[in-house]
Amino acid sequence: MDFKAIVDPQARSATGCAVIGVFEGGELGESAAKLDARLGGIVRRLHAAGDFAAKSGDSLLLAQPSGARAARVLLVGLGPRSGYSRKQYRKSLATAAQALAKTGAADATLYLAADSQVDLDIGYRARIVAEVLRAQAYRIPDLKTSKKPKPSRLKSVRVAAPDAAAARAAQRGLDVGEAIGNGAALARDLANLPPNICTPTYLGAQAQRLARDFPKIRTRVLGERQIRALKMGAFLAVTQGSAEPPRLIVCEYLGAGRGKPVTCLIGKGITFDSGGISLKDPSAMDEMKFDMSGGASVLGTLRAVAELGLALNVVVIVAACENLPGGKAVKPADIVTSMSGQTIEILNTDAEGRLVLCDAITYSRRYKPATVIDVATLTGACVVALGHHLTGLMSNSEALAAELEAAGLRADDRAWRMPVADEYADQLKSNFADLANIGGREGGACTAASFLWKFAKDLNWAHLDIAGTAWVSGAQKGSTGRPVPLLVDFLLNRARGV
Ligand code: BES
Ligand code: MN
Ligand code: ZN
Repeated sequence: MDFKAIVDPQARSATGCAVIGVFEGGELGESAAKLDARLGGIVRRLHAAGDFAAKSGDSLLLAQPSGARAARVLLVGLGPRSGYSRKQYRKSLATAAQALAKTGAADATLYLAADSQVDLDIGYRARIVAEVLRAQAYRIPDLKTSKKPKPSRLKSVRVAAPDAAAARAAQRGLDVGEAIGNGAALARDLANLPPNICTPTYLGAQAQRLARDFPKIRTRVLGERQIRALKMGAFLAVTQGSAEPPRLIVCEYLGAGRGKPVTCLIGKGITFDSGGISLKDPSAMDEMKFDMSGGASVLGTLRAVAELGLALNVVVIVAACENLPGGKAVKPADIVTSMSGQTIEILNTDAEGRLVLCDAITYSRRYKPATVIDVATLTGACVVALGHHLTGLMSNSEALAAELEAAGLRADDRAWRMPVADEYADQLKSNFADLANIGGREGGACTAASFLWKFAKDLNWAHLDIAGTAWVSGAQKGSTGRPVPLLVDFLLNRARGV
């Protein structure tokens, strides 16, 4: 799909489908009113006759209207005028995208962003257009043998702006939205694939492909021997029960040039988490293929960063392996030595995410990073605390936490601050090693984060627990691509120097 901003103050574009918004009360935005005037007021009459209530989620297609240069006009219900917000704006666009996909139009011109119903600048409004339409076009890479439904014919989306300056801002917004959409789609594809296809080796190959597609990305994929040479005893403990070889994936993007500050994004890449010897309950165990969502999201974020060519240095590190039981698997009570030198008593082999992440955090130190953010489907406890709506955010830096929180708000991909503190770290005390890998049931998301904190101590660090937000269960089971929007917004803001 291709996105372009155009100057079209009179709503006169020749287009396969003009998309306009109508409020429940019948009010039209500026462009919509102009188009309706040329259509002889049919939109107002339809509303008055009760044929189009314009509730949120409603849409109505007018085919071959006379008076317009548009082959079709799509009316989108915006809901009530009062309190119309960003959330409804997103919903209007989702409605428009759904309805557009059902038409035969190969191109469409959207007037929703120009009709400034919502208190956002046009760049931001355009960004949401691209993000939502791109997400709507996403298809799960399924392995169904039945005939696939025909893809939508929509290839080209135009966003109308009132003047040249607004069109320039809208174009920047569209580029950002498209990059976020593409990054999220990459993350979703990787996470949705079955774990016998999306193995650590596969993830490594995809990271290498990213480097081929974007020359500014340099990828290195380390295998078991190199991981051993690095003395990543915690990471190795997790992988040792599996026949599938582990991968430490490192992608460097030096958009700001050498010597400039580096942001490290670290992803948990457990391509299947059975729990290991501390085996999980079988119900919903299939969903543990999504346990590499953190890794997928940092790769998706890097894709967006490279596509936008941001002037930032970003290093992505994904610790990828399986967590399986077996004759060679790590056992409860085993003690391992992490790359940092700290010894860890593994009391529960199902708390494996923190084990691979602690070594990845230590590895990140070679970049002398200004910022380190790890992203992980780390704890069921985080889902208990926050549900499926907000991502858990822990940090040892007030400023970084505030920055990430603000990015989540702007991107409609919110995160909520939770604590790391000595009290939680104290729950990880062991009689036999420097620390244990579990700290009891209470405050499970916070003890897990505090475990990581022991390895991040002097770093400017944050942790995103996406256990509740990375995928949805049930009939719509699948990856969400979160927190790609949050992370891209965060980096974009840093690149702008805000
Ligand atoms: N990948 C899981 C966390 C998870 C569970 C994410 C359910 C999403 C849904 C993680 O590796 C895990 O198993 N954590 C344990 C930790 C416990 C043993 C301290 C958990 O949350 O139960
Ligand atoms: Mn686990
Ligand atoms: Zn896990």
